[in-house]
Amino acid sequence: MEQPIDRLNRMREEALQGGGQERIEVQHGKGKLTARERIDLLLDPGSFEELGMLVKHRSTNFGLDKQQFLGDGVVTGYGKMSGRLVYVFSQDFTVLGGSLAEAHAKKICRVMDLAMQNGAPLVGLNDSGGARIQEGVVSLGGYADIFYRNVRASGVIPQLSAILGPCAGGAVYSPALTDFIFMAEGTSYMFVTGPNVVKTVTHEEVTSEDLGGAKVHATKSGVTHFTARNEAAVIQEIKDVLGYLPQNCEEDPARLPYKGGDETRPELDALIPDSAQQPYDIREAIAQVADSDSFMEVQKDYAENMVCGFARLAGRSIGIVANQPAFLAGVLDIKASAKAARFVRTCDAFNVPLLVLEDVPGFLPGTDQEWNGIISNGAKLLYAFSEATVPRVTVITRKAYGGAYDVMNSQHIGADLVLAWPKAEIAVMGAKGAAEIIFRKEIASSDNPEATWKEKEAEYAELFAHPYNAAARGYVDEVILPRNTRAKLIRAFEMLENKVDKLPRKKHGNIPL
Ligand code: HXC
Repeated sequence: MEQPIDRLNRMREEALQGGGQERIEVQHGKGKLTARERIDLLLDPGSFEELGMLVKHRSTNFGLDKQQFLGDGVVTGYGKMSGRLVYVFSQDFTVLGGSLAEAHAKKICRVMDLAMQNGAPLVGLNDSGGARIQEGVVSLGGYADIFYRNVRASGVIPQLSAILGPCAGGAVYSPALTDFIFMAEGTSYMFVTGPNVVKTVTHEEVTSEDLGGAKVHATKSGVTHFTARNEAAVIQEIKDVLGYLPQNCEEDPARLPYKGGDETRPELDALIPDSAQQPYDIREAIAQVADSDSFMEVQKDYAENMVCGFARLAGRSIGIVANQPAFLAGVLDIKASAKAARFVRTCDAFNVPLLVLEDVPGFLPGTDQEWNGIISNGAKLLYAFSEATVPRVTVITRKAYGGAYDVMNSQHIGADLVLAWPKAEIAVMGAKGAAEIIFRKEIASSDNPEATWKEKEAEYAELFAHPYNAAARGYVDEVILPRNTRAKLIRAFEMLENKVDKLPRKKHGNIPL
Protein backbone atom coordinates (compact mmCIF):
# COMPACT_ATOMS: atom_id res chain seq x y z
CA MET A 1 0.00 0.00 0.00
CA GLU A 2 1.18 3.51 -0.78
CA GLN A 3 2.67 5.30 2.23
CA PRO A 4 0.55 8.27 3.48
CA ILE A 5 3.29 10.82 2.83
CA ASP A 6 3.99 9.40 -0.61
CA ARG A 7 0.30 9.54 -1.37
CA LEU A 8 0.10 13.20 -0.41
CA ASN A 9 3.21 14.05 -2.41
CA ARG A 10 1.88 12.21 -5.45
CA MET A 11 -1.45 14.02 -5.27
CA ARG A 12 0.24 17.38 -4.86
CA GLU A 13 2.46 16.62 -7.82
CA GLU A 14 -0.59 15.68 -9.85
CA ALA A 15 -2.39 18.90 -8.90
CA LEU A 16 0.62 20.96 -9.94
CA GLN A 17 0.38 19.44 -13.43
CA GLY A 18 -3.04 21.03 -14.06
CA GLY A 19 -4.35 19.72 -17.40
CA GLY A 20 -1.02 18.05 -18.20
CA GLN A 21 2.22 18.88 -19.96
CA GLU A 22 0.76 18.83 -23.45
CA ARG A 23 -1.87 21.43 -22.63
CA ILE A 24 0.66 23.53 -20.72
CA GLU A 25 2.74 23.62 -23.89
CA VAL A 26 -0.28 24.73 -25.91
CA GLN A 27 -0.88 27.46 -23.33
CA HIS A 28 2.75 28.61 -23.57
CA GLY A 29 2.58 28.39 -27.36
CA LYS A 30 -0.20 31.00 -27.30
CA GLY A 31 2.07 33.37 -25.37
CA LYS A 32 0.17 32.68 -22.14
CA LEU A 33 1.41 31.67 -18.72
CA THR A 34 -0.13 28.95 -16.58
CA ALA A 35 -2.33 29.71 -13.59
CA ARG A 36 0.52 28.96 -11.19
CA GLU A 37 3.14 30.91 -13.13
CA ARG A 38 0.85 33.94 -12.92
CA ILE A 39 0.52 33.61 -9.15
CA ASP A 40 4.30 33.35 -8.87
CA LEU A 41 4.61 36.68 -10.68
CA LEU A 42 1.91 38.33 -8.59
CA LEU A 43 2.95 37.38 -5.08
CA ASP A 44 6.10 37.83 -3.03
CA PRO A 45 8.32 34.77 -3.44
CA GLY A 46 7.37 31.88 -1.18
CA SER A 47 4.35 33.69 0.28
CA PHE A 48 1.55 31.79 -1.48
CA GLU A 49 -0.59 29.49 0.65
CA GLU A 50 -2.86 27.35 -1.48
CA LEU A 51 -6.34 26.31 -0.40
CA GLY A 52 -8.39 23.53 -1.93
CA MET A 53 -5.61 22.02 -4.00
CA LEU A 54 -7.24 18.58 -3.82
CA VAL A 55 -10.82 19.63 -4.62
CA LYS A 56 -12.53 17.59 -7.36
CA HIS A 57 -15.81 18.01 -9.21
CA ARG A 58 -18.45 15.34 -8.69
CA SER A 59 -20.18 15.37 -12.05
CA THR A 60 -20.60 12.24 -14.13
CA ASN A 61 -22.29 13.91 -17.09
CA PHE A 62 -20.87 13.34 -20.57
CA GLY A 63 -17.93 11.32 -19.25
CA LEU A 64 -16.76 14.04 -16.89
CA ASP A 65 -16.10 11.37 -14.26
CA LYS A 66 -13.20 10.29 -16.47
CA GLN A 67 -11.85 13.83 -16.54
CA GLN A 68 -10.93 14.52 -12.94
CA PHE A 69 -8.28 17.15 -12.28
CA LEU A 70 -7.21 17.94 -8.73
CA GLY A 71 -8.08 21.54 -8.01
CA ASP A 72 -10.84 21.54 -10.66
CA GLY A 73 -9.28 24.17 -12.90
CA VAL A 74 -8.67 26.98 -10.46
CA VAL A 75 -5.80 27.70 -8.08
CA THR A 76 -6.95 29.60 -4.99
CA GLY A 77 -5.36 30.92 -1.82
CA TYR A 78 -3.68 33.89 -0.20
CA GLY A 79 -0.26 35.43 0.01
CA LYS A 80 1.67 38.67 0.25
CA MET A 81 2.03 41.27 -2.43
CA SER A 82 4.75 43.80 -1.60
CA GLY A 83 4.28 42.68 1.99
CA ARG A 84 0.47 43.13 1.96
CA LEU A 85 -2.05 40.34 2.39
CA VAL A 86 -4.07 39.59 -0.77
CA TYR A 87 -6.41 36.77 -1.72
CA VAL A 88 -6.16 35.33 -5.20
CA PHE A 89 -7.80 32.93 -7.60
CA SER A 90 -6.20 31.95 -10.86
CA GLN A 91 -8.14 29.94 -13.44
CA ASP A 92 -6.36 27.14 -15.24
CA PHE A 93 -7.28 27.03 -18.93
CA THR A 94 -5.44 23.71 -19.30
CA VAL A 95 -8.20 22.06 -17.24
CA LEU A 96 -11.45 21.88 -19.21
CA GLY A 97 -10.76 25.34 -20.63
CA GLY A 98 -10.82 26.92 -17.17
CA SER A 99 -14.59 26.39 -17.29
CA LEU A 100 -16.49 27.01 -14.09
CA ALA A 101 -18.89 24.69 -12.35
CA GLU A 102 -19.88 23.72 -8.82
CA ALA A 103 -16.51 22.83 -7.23
CA HIS A 104 -14.53 25.48 -9.12
CA ALA A 105 -17.04 28.16 -8.06
CA LYS A 106 -17.00 27.02 -4.43
CA LYS A 107 -13.24 27.44 -4.30
CA ILE A 108 -13.51 31.01 -5.60
CA CYS A 109 -16.33 31.81 -3.18
CA ARG A 110 -14.22 30.53 -0.31
CA VAL A 111 -11.38 32.98 -0.94
CA MET A 112 -13.87 35.77 -1.55
CA ASP A 113 -15.46 35.10 1.86
CA LEU A 114 -12.05 35.04 3.53
CA ALA A 115 -11.03 38.27 1.80
CA MET A 116 -14.18 39.97 3.05
CA GLN A 117 -13.90 38.65 6.60
CA ASN A 118 -10.27 39.69 6.84
CA GLY A 119 -10.49 42.97 4.95
CA ALA A 120 -7.93 42.36 2.21
CA PRO A 121 -7.99 42.83 -1.59
CA LEU A 122 -9.05 40.08 -3.97
CA VAL A 123 -7.21 39.55 -7.25
CA GLY A 124 -8.87 37.36 -9.87
CA LEU A 125 -6.77 36.01 -12.73
CA ASN A 126 -9.41 34.97 -15.26
CA ASP A 127 -8.83 32.54 -18.11
CA SER A 128 -12.05 30.66 -18.68
CA GLY A 129 -14.46 29.47 -21.35
CA GLY A 130 -17.34 30.32 -19.01
CA ALA A 131 -19.95 28.03 -17.53
CA ARG A 132 -18.87 24.36 -17.77
CA ILE A 133 -21.39 23.20 -20.29
CA GLN A 134 -21.43 19.55 -19.15
CA GLU A 135 -22.40 20.44 -15.58
CA GLY A 136 -25.47 22.43 -16.53
CA VAL A 137 -27.31 24.56 -14.02
CA VAL A 138 -24.78 24.10 -11.20
CA SER A 139 -22.38 26.09 -13.37
CA LEU A 140 -24.87 28.91 -13.62
CA GLY A 141 -25.51 28.71 -9.88
CA GLY A 142 -21.76 28.84 -9.26
CA TYR A 143 -21.44 32.01 -11.30
CA ALA A 144 -24.33 33.65 -9.52
CA ASP A 145 -22.75 32.77 -6.15
CA ILE A 146 -19.65 34.67 -7.28
CA PHE A 147 -21.57 37.64 -8.70
CA TYR A 148 -23.45 37.99 -5.42
CA ARG A 149 -20.20 38.07 -3.46
CA ASN A 150 -18.63 40.53 -5.92
CA VAL A 151 -21.49 42.91 -5.28
CA ARG A 152 -21.47 42.44 -1.50
CA ALA A 153 -17.71 43.06 -1.46
CA SER A 154 -17.97 46.11 -3.75
CA GLY A 155 -16.70 49.17 -1.91
CA VAL A 156 -15.55 47.06 1.04
CA ILE A 157 -12.36 45.53 -0.34
CA PRO A 158 -10.59 46.33 -3.62
CA GLN A 159 -11.40 43.70 -6.27
CA LEU A 160 -9.14 43.53 -9.31
CA SER A 161 -9.66 41.31 -12.35
CA ALA A 162 -7.08 40.36 -14.95
CA ILE A 163 -8.39 38.88 -18.19
CA LEU A 164 -5.71 36.55 -19.43
CA GLY A 165 -7.42 34.41 -22.02
CA PRO A 166 -10.64 34.02 -23.95
CA CYS A 167 -13.23 34.86 -21.29
CA ALA A 168 -16.75 34.15 -22.42
CA GLY A 169 -20.23 34.11 -20.94
CA GLY A 170 -20.31 34.19 -17.15
CA ALA A 171 -16.53 34.64 -17.12
CA VAL A 172 -16.95 38.30 -18.06
CA TYR A 173 -19.64 39.32 -15.60
CA SER A 174 -17.68 38.74 -12.42
CA PRO A 175 -14.84 40.99 -13.67
CA ALA A 176 -17.41 43.56 -14.75
CA LEU A 177 -18.63 43.78 -11.15
CA THR A 178 -15.14 44.43 -9.77
CA ASP A 179 -13.26 47.72 -9.41
CA PHE A 180 -10.71 47.34 -12.19
CA ILE A 181 -10.24 45.17 -15.27
CA PHE A 182 -6.84 44.55 -16.85
CA MET A 183 -6.33 42.93 -20.29
CA ALA A 184 -3.28 41.57 -22.10
CA GLU A 185 -2.91 42.63 -25.73
CA GLY A 186 -3.30 39.84 -28.28
CA THR A 187 -4.14 37.03 -25.85
CA SER A 188 -7.18 38.12 -23.89
CA TYR A 189 -10.76 38.50 -25.04
CA MET A 190 -14.00 39.31 -23.30
CA PHE A 191 -17.41 38.69 -24.77
CA VAL A 192 -20.80 37.59 -23.57
CA THR A 193 -21.15 35.45 -26.70
CA GLY A 194 -18.22 34.48 -28.91
CA PRO A 195 -17.80 34.94 -32.69
CA ASN A 196 -19.61 31.66 -33.54
CA VAL A 197 -22.76 32.61 -31.65
CA VAL A 198 -22.62 36.11 -33.10
CA LYS A 199 -22.48 34.63 -36.59
CA THR A 200 -25.47 32.38 -35.95
CA VAL A 201 -27.64 35.05 -34.39
CA THR A 202 -26.76 38.26 -36.23
CA HIS A 203 -24.90 36.85 -39.27
CA GLU A 204 -21.98 39.14 -38.47
CA GLU A 205 -18.52 37.74 -39.24
CA VAL A 206 -16.11 39.01 -36.63
CA THR A 207 -12.84 37.81 -35.16
CA SER A 208 -12.33 37.36 -31.40
CA GLU A 209 -9.92 40.29 -31.47
CA ASP A 210 -12.41 42.61 -33.18
CA LEU A 211 -15.29 41.45 -31.02
CA GLY A 212 -13.66 41.62 -27.60
CA GLY A 213 -9.90 42.08 -27.72
CA ALA A 214 -7.95 44.39 -25.43
CA LYS A 215 -7.92 47.22 -27.99
CA VAL A 216 -11.68 47.10 -28.52
CA HIS A 217 -12.43 47.19 -24.81
CA ALA A 218 -9.84 49.91 -24.19
CA THR A 219 -11.12 52.23 -26.94
CA LYS A 220 -14.70 51.39 -27.89
CA SER A 221 -16.52 49.87 -24.93
CA GLY A 222 -14.41 51.22 -22.06
CA VAL A 223 -14.90 47.86 -20.32
CA THR A 224 -11.21 47.49 -19.51
CA HIS A 225 -9.41 50.04 -17.35
CA PHE A 226 -5.88 48.96 -18.22
CA THR A 227 -4.17 47.05 -21.01
CA ALA A 228 -0.58 45.88 -21.25
CA ARG A 229 1.58 44.27 -23.90
CA ASN A 230 1.83 40.89 -22.13
CA GLU A 231 0.76 39.04 -19.00
CA ALA A 232 3.80 39.97 -16.93
CA ALA A 233 3.10 43.65 -17.64
CA VAL A 234 -0.57 43.17 -16.68
CA ILE A 235 0.46 41.68 -13.35
CA GLN A 236 2.81 44.61 -12.73
CA GLU A 237 -0.09 47.00 -13.42
CA ILE A 238 -2.20 45.18 -10.82
CA LYS A 239 0.54 45.69 -8.24
CA ASP A 240 0.86 49.36 -9.21
CA VAL A 241 -2.88 50.03 -8.87
CA LEU A 242 -3.09 48.28 -5.51
CA GLY A 243 -0.26 50.53 -4.34
CA TYR A 244 -2.66 53.49 -4.47
CA LEU A 245 -5.44 51.69 -2.59
CA PRO A 246 -5.90 50.67 1.03
CA GLN A 247 -6.62 47.11 2.19
CA ASN A 248 -10.29 47.92 2.72
CA CYS A 249 -12.74 50.81 3.05
CA GLU A 250 -11.93 51.33 6.74
CA GLU A 251 -8.30 52.15 6.05
CA ASP A 252 -6.47 54.95 4.27
CA PRO A 253 -4.07 54.28 1.40
CA ALA A 254 -0.45 53.96 2.49
CA ARG A 255 1.54 57.19 2.29
CA LEU A 256 5.02 56.97 0.81
CA PRO A 257 7.87 58.79 2.53
CA TYR A 258 8.42 62.22 1.02
CA LYS A 259 11.42 64.42 1.54
CA GLY A 260 10.03 67.72 0.28
CA GLY A 261 11.96 70.41 -1.59
CA ASP A 262 11.27 73.34 -3.88
CA GLU A 263 7.65 72.85 -4.88
CA THR A 264 7.37 75.77 -7.32
CA ARG A 265 6.85 74.80 -10.94
CA PRO A 266 7.54 77.89 -13.11
CA GLU A 267 6.76 75.88 -16.29
CA LEU A 268 3.08 76.00 -15.37
CA ASP A 269 2.94 79.79 -15.84
CA ALA A 270 3.40 79.28 -19.59
CA LEU A 271 1.09 76.29 -20.03
CA ILE A 272 -2.14 78.06 -20.96
CA PRO A 273 -2.03 79.42 -24.54
CA ASP A 274 -2.93 83.06 -25.19
CA SER A 275 -5.97 82.13 -27.23
CA ALA A 276 -8.79 80.44 -25.34
CA GLN A 277 -9.45 78.45 -28.50
CA GLN A 278 -6.01 76.83 -28.50
CA PRO A 279 -5.60 73.38 -26.95
CA TYR A 280 -2.90 72.21 -24.55
CA ASP A 281 -2.27 68.85 -22.95
CA ILE A 282 -3.62 68.67 -19.40
CA ARG A 283 -1.21 65.79 -18.76
CA GLU A 284 1.55 68.39 -18.77
CA ALA A 285 -0.13 70.09 -15.82
CA ILE A 286 -0.55 66.74 -14.08
CA ALA A 287 3.12 65.91 -14.61
CA GLN A 288 4.13 69.19 -12.95
CA VAL A 289 1.67 69.01 -10.09
CA ALA A 290 2.02 65.33 -9.08
CA ASP A 291 5.13 63.63 -7.69
CA SER A 292 7.47 62.69 -10.55
CA ASP A 293 6.35 59.73 -12.64
CA SER A 294 3.59 58.91 -10.19
CA PHE A 295 0.60 59.34 -12.52
CA MET A 296 -1.15 56.12 -13.53
CA GLU A 297 -3.93 56.76 -16.00
CA VAL A 298 -7.18 54.77 -15.93
CA GLN A 299 -9.08 54.07 -19.19
CA LYS A 300 -6.38 56.02 -21.02
CA ASP A 301 -7.71 55.43 -24.54
CA TYR A 302 -11.43 55.78 -23.78
CA ALA A 303 -13.27 59.12 -23.63
CA GLU A 304 -9.97 60.93 -23.97
CA ASN A 305 -11.61 64.29 -23.31
CA MET A 306 -11.56 63.25 -19.65
CA VAL A 307 -8.31 62.18 -18.00
CA CYS A 308 -8.63 60.09 -14.84
CA GLY A 309 -5.95 58.37 -12.83
CA PHE A 310 -4.08 57.82 -9.63
CA ALA A 311 -1.05 59.83 -8.61
CA ARG A 312 0.93 60.79 -5.55
CA LEU A 313 1.23 64.23 -4.04
CA ALA A 314 4.00 64.53 -1.46
CA GLY A 315 3.73 60.75 -1.12
CA ARG A 316 -0.03 60.83 -0.58
CA SER A 317 -2.28 58.76 -2.87
CA ILE A 318 -4.75 60.94 -4.81
CA GLY A 319 -7.21 60.46 -7.66
CA ILE A 320 -7.06 63.03 -10.47
CA VAL A 321 -10.03 63.91 -12.67
CA ALA A 322 -9.15 66.37 -15.41
CA ASN A 323 -10.76 67.76 -18.54
CA GLN A 324 -8.49 67.34 -21.54
CA PRO A 325 -8.54 70.46 -23.76
CA ALA A 326 -6.37 68.60 -26.31
CA PHE A 327 -9.26 66.21 -27.15
CA LEU A 328 -12.67 67.54 -28.24
CA ALA A 329 -11.74 70.73 -26.36
CA GLY A 330 -12.30 68.86 -23.09
CA VAL A 331 -16.06 68.85 -23.59
CA LEU A 332 -18.29 66.83 -21.25
CA ASP A 333 -20.09 64.11 -23.18
CA ILE A 334 -21.78 60.84 -22.26
CA LYS A 335 -18.66 58.70 -22.18
CA ALA A 336 -16.51 61.24 -20.35
CA SER A 337 -19.18 61.80 -17.71
CA ALA A 338 -19.70 58.10 -17.04
CA LYS A 339 -15.95 57.44 -17.00
CA ALA A 340 -15.25 60.18 -14.48
CA ALA A 341 -18.28 59.31 -12.33
CA ARG A 342 -17.10 55.74 -11.97
CA PHE A 343 -13.58 56.85 -11.07
CA VAL A 344 -14.80 59.39 -8.52
CA ARG A 345 -16.91 56.70 -6.81
CA THR A 346 -14.00 54.25 -6.77
CA CYS A 347 -11.74 56.82 -5.12
CA ASP A 348 -14.41 57.80 -2.63
CA ALA A 349 -15.11 54.17 -1.72
CA PHE A 350 -11.46 53.64 -0.85
CA ASN A 351 -10.62 56.94 0.84
CA VAL A 352 -8.51 58.33 -1.99
CA PRO A 353 -8.73 62.18 -1.99
CA LEU A 354 -9.73 63.82 -5.27
CA LEU A 355 -8.01 66.54 -7.27
CA VAL A 356 -9.97 68.06 -10.16
CA LEU A 357 -8.26 70.04 -12.92
CA GLU A 358 -10.93 71.91 -14.78
CA ASP A 359 -10.93 73.32 -18.30
CA VAL A 360 -14.33 72.58 -19.79
CA PRO A 361 -16.31 74.45 -22.45
CA GLY A 362 -19.58 72.78 -21.36
CA PHE A 363 -21.67 69.78 -22.32
CA LEU A 364 -21.54 68.51 -25.91
CA PRO A 365 -24.70 69.56 -27.80
CA GLY A 366 -26.48 67.44 -30.41
CA THR A 367 -29.11 64.80 -31.09
CA ASP A 368 -26.64 61.95 -30.64
CA GLN A 369 -25.86 63.08 -27.12
CA GLU A 370 -29.44 63.95 -26.18
CA TRP A 371 -30.95 60.75 -27.58
CA ASN A 372 -28.35 58.60 -25.89
CA GLY A 373 -28.85 60.22 -22.52
CA ILE A 374 -26.35 63.00 -21.83
CA ILE A 375 -28.85 64.15 -19.21
CA SER A 376 -28.69 61.02 -17.08
CA ASN A 377 -25.00 60.45 -17.80
CA GLY A 378 -24.03 64.01 -16.90
CA ALA A 379 -26.13 63.55 -13.78
CA LYS A 380 -23.99 60.55 -12.84
CA LEU A 381 -20.96 62.79 -12.52
CA LEU A 382 -22.89 65.42 -10.62
CA TYR A 383 -24.12 62.69 -8.31
CA ALA A 384 -20.72 61.08 -7.85
CA PHE A 385 -19.02 64.31 -6.83
CA SER A 386 -21.90 65.43 -4.61
CA GLU A 387 -21.91 62.21 -2.59
CA ALA A 388 -18.11 61.90 -2.29
CA THR A 389 -16.94 62.48 1.28
CA VAL A 390 -13.18 62.32 0.66
CA PRO A 391 -11.16 65.57 0.57
CA ARG A 392 -11.85 67.28 -2.75
CA VAL A 393 -9.92 70.14 -4.32
CA THR A 394 -10.55 71.80 -7.69
CA VAL A 395 -8.13 73.89 -9.74
CA ILE A 396 -9.77 75.82 -12.60
CA THR A 397 -7.01 76.21 -15.15
CA ARG A 398 -9.03 77.90 -17.87
CA LYS A 399 -12.68 77.43 -18.89
CA ALA A 400 -15.42 76.64 -16.42
CA TYR A 401 -18.55 77.24 -18.43
CA GLY A 402 -22.19 76.57 -17.79
CA GLY A 403 -23.51 73.43 -16.10
CA ALA A 404 -20.06 71.95 -16.45
CA TYR A 405 -18.81 74.54 -13.93
CA ASP A 406 -21.28 73.16 -11.41
CA VAL A 407 -20.57 69.52 -12.22
CA MET A 408 -16.78 69.58 -12.13
CA ASN A 409 -16.50 69.57 -8.35
CA SER A 410 -17.62 73.11 -7.67
CA GLN A 411 -17.78 74.44 -4.12
CA HIS A 412 -21.57 74.27 -4.40
CA ILE A 413 -21.51 70.47 -4.66
CA GLY A 414 -19.08 70.02 -1.83
CA ALA A 415 -15.54 70.80 -3.01
CA ASP A 416 -13.45 71.64 0.04
CA LEU A 417 -11.32 74.13 -1.80
CA VAL A 418 -11.48 75.75 -5.24
CA LEU A 419 -8.44 77.45 -6.71
CA ALA A 420 -8.25 79.24 -10.06
CA TRP A 421 -5.45 80.33 -12.35
CA PRO A 422 -5.44 83.94 -13.58
CA LYS A 423 -6.57 82.91 -17.09
CA ALA A 424 -9.66 81.12 -15.71
CA GLU A 425 -12.95 82.04 -17.38
CA ILE A 426 -15.88 81.25 -15.11
CA ALA A 427 -19.14 82.09 -16.85
CA VAL A 428 -22.41 80.75 -18.19
CA MET A 429 -20.82 80.33 -21.61
CA GLY A 430 -18.02 81.57 -23.87
CA ALA A 431 -18.09 85.25 -24.82
CA LYS A 432 -18.83 84.62 -28.51
CA GLY A 433 -21.90 82.45 -27.90
CA ALA A 434 -23.11 84.68 -25.09
CA ALA A 435 -22.89 87.82 -27.26
CA GLU A 436 -24.81 86.10 -30.05
CA ILE A 437 -27.69 85.27 -27.71
CA ILE A 438 -28.06 88.32 -25.53
CA PHE A 439 -27.29 90.88 -28.27
CA ARG A 440 -29.10 89.09 -31.12
CA LYS A 441 -31.32 92.08 -31.94
CA GLU A 442 -28.47 94.61 -31.83
CA ILE A 443 -26.31 92.41 -34.03
CA ALA A 444 -29.13 91.78 -36.53
CA SER A 445 -30.09 95.44 -36.83
CA SER A 446 -26.51 96.70 -37.02
CA ASP A 447 -25.02 98.08 -40.28
CA ASN A 448 -22.01 95.89 -39.64
CA PRO A 449 -23.24 92.76 -37.79
CA GLU A 450 -19.82 91.12 -37.70
CA ALA A 451 -18.20 94.17 -36.06
CA THR A 452 -21.07 94.57 -33.59
CA TRP A 453 -20.83 90.92 -32.63
CA LYS A 454 -17.08 91.29 -32.03
CA GLU A 455 -17.64 94.42 -29.96
CA LYS A 456 -20.31 92.73 -27.82
CA GLU A 457 -18.14 89.64 -27.46
CA ALA A 458 -15.31 91.81 -26.13
CA GLU A 459 -17.76 93.52 -23.76
CA TYR A 460 -18.95 90.17 -22.38
CA ALA A 461 -15.40 88.83 -22.12
CA GLU A 462 -14.32 91.91 -20.19
CA LEU A 463 -17.18 91.35 -17.75
CA PHE A 464 -17.02 87.58 -17.37
CA ALA A 465 -13.96 85.92 -18.96
CA HIS A 466 -11.95 85.92 -15.75
CA PRO A 467 -12.09 84.36 -12.31
CA TYR A 468 -12.84 87.52 -10.35
CA ASN A 469 -16.66 87.41 -10.30
CA ALA A 470 -16.47 83.90 -8.87
CA ALA A 471 -13.74 85.03 -6.46
CA ALA A 472 -15.87 88.02 -5.39
CA ARG A 473 -18.67 85.64 -4.45
CA GLY A 474 -16.23 83.33 -2.66
CA TYR A 475 -16.97 80.50 -5.11
CA VAL A 476 -13.24 80.49 -5.81
CA ASP A 477 -11.20 80.45 -2.62
CA GLU A 478 -8.04 81.81 -4.15
CA VAL A 479 -6.69 82.91 -7.50
CA ILE A 480 -3.15 81.57 -7.62
CA LEU A 481 -0.10 81.75 -9.82
CA PRO A 482 0.10 78.49 -11.77
CA ARG A 483 3.69 78.01 -10.59
CA ASN A 484 2.47 77.72 -6.99
CA THR A 485 -0.18 75.07 -7.69
CA ARG A 486 1.79 72.07 -6.43
CA ALA A 487 2.81 73.80 -3.20
CA LYS A 488 -0.76 74.98 -2.57
CA LEU A 489 -2.17 71.50 -3.21
CA ILE A 490 0.30 69.80 -0.90
CA ARG A 491 -0.81 72.14 1.87
CA ALA A 492 -4.48 71.81 0.97
CA PHE A 493 -4.53 68.01 1.17
CA GLU A 494 -2.54 68.12 4.38
CA MET A 495 -5.08 70.60 5.79
CA LEU A 496 -7.93 68.27 4.75
CA GLU A 497 -6.30 65.12 6.11
CA ASN A 498 -8.74 64.68 8.97
CA LYS A 499 -11.86 65.73 7.12
CA VAL A 500 -15.07 64.24 8.53
CA ASP A 501 -18.10 64.24 6.28
CA LYS A 502 -21.00 61.85 6.59
CA LEU A 503 -23.91 61.29 4.24
CA PRO A 504 -27.42 61.46 5.70
CA ARG A 505 -28.72 58.12 6.97
CA LYS A 506 -30.23 56.20 4.09
CA LYS A 507 -30.47 52.68 2.73
CA HIS A 508 -28.54 53.72 -0.35
CA GLY A 509 -28.71 56.56 -2.81
CA ASN A 510 -30.27 56.21 -6.24
CA ILE A 511 -27.59 57.24 -8.72
CA PRO A 512 -29.08 57.75 -12.21
CA LEU A 513 -27.63 54.60 -13.77
C1 HXC B 1 -16.65 23.02 -20.92
C2 HXC B 1 -15.04 23.99 -22.22
C3 HXC B 1 -15.71 25.22 -22.19
C4 HXC B 1 -16.93 25.28 -21.45
C5 HXC B 1 -13.94 25.46 -23.36
N1 HXC B 1 -13.95 24.19 -22.97
N2 HXC B 1 -15.02 26.12 -22.89
N3 HXC B 1 -15.50 22.90 -21.60
N4 HXC B 1 -17.36 24.17 -20.83
N5 HXC B 1 -17.63 26.42 -21.35
C6 HXC B 1 -12.96 23.16 -23.26
C7 HXC B 1 -12.98 22.77 -24.73
O1 HXC B 1 -13.97 21.79 -24.99
C8 HXC B 1 -11.57 22.24 -24.92
O2 HXC B 1 -11.51 20.93 -24.42
C9 HXC B 1 -10.74 23.09 -23.99
O3 HXC B 1 -11.67 23.65 -23.06
C10 HXC B 1 -10.04 24.22 -24.72
O4 HXC B 1 -10.99 24.90 -25.52
P1 HXC B 1 -10.74 25.24 -27.06
O5 HXC B 1 -12.04 25.53 -27.68
O6 HXC B 1 -9.89 24.18 -27.68
O7 HXC B 1 -9.85 26.56 -26.92
P2 HXC B 1 -9.87 27.85 -27.84
O8 HXC B 1 -9.82 27.47 -29.29
O9 HXC B 1 -8.78 28.71 -27.31
O10 HXC B 1 -11.28 28.56 -27.60
C11 HXC B 1 -11.62 29.05 -26.31
C12 HXC B 1 -13.09 29.48 -26.28
C13 HXC B 1 -14.00 28.32 -26.76
C14 HXC B 1 -13.30 30.72 -27.14
C15 HXC B 1 -13.39 29.86 -24.81
O11 HXC B 1 -13.60 27.11 -26.10
C16 HXC B 1 -15.43 28.57 -26.51
O12 HXC B 1 -16.09 29.29 -27.28
N6 HXC B 1 -15.96 27.95 -25.48
C17 HXC B 1 -17.37 28.03 -25.13
C18 HXC B 1 -17.70 29.39 -24.59
C19 HXC B 1 -19.10 29.43 -24.06
O13 HXC B 1 -20.05 29.49 -24.85
N7 HXC B 1 -19.23 29.32 -22.74
C20 HXC B 1 -20.51 29.18 -22.06
C21 HXC B 1 -21.07 30.55 -21.91
S1 HXC B 1 -22.60 30.55 -21.11
P3 HXC B 1 -10.69 19.79 -25.15
O14 HXC B 1 -10.83 18.62 -24.25
O15 HXC B 1 -11.31 19.61 -26.48
O16 HXC B 1 -9.29 20.30 -25.26
C22 HXC B 1 -22.22 31.12 -19.58
C23 HXC B 1 -23.42 31.31 -18.74
C24 HXC B 1 -23.19 32.16 -17.54
O17 HXC B 1 -21.12 31.30 -19.24
C25 HXC B 1 -23.93 33.42 -17.68
C26 HXC B 1 -23.95 34.19 -16.41
C27 HXC B 1 -24.47 35.59 -16.61
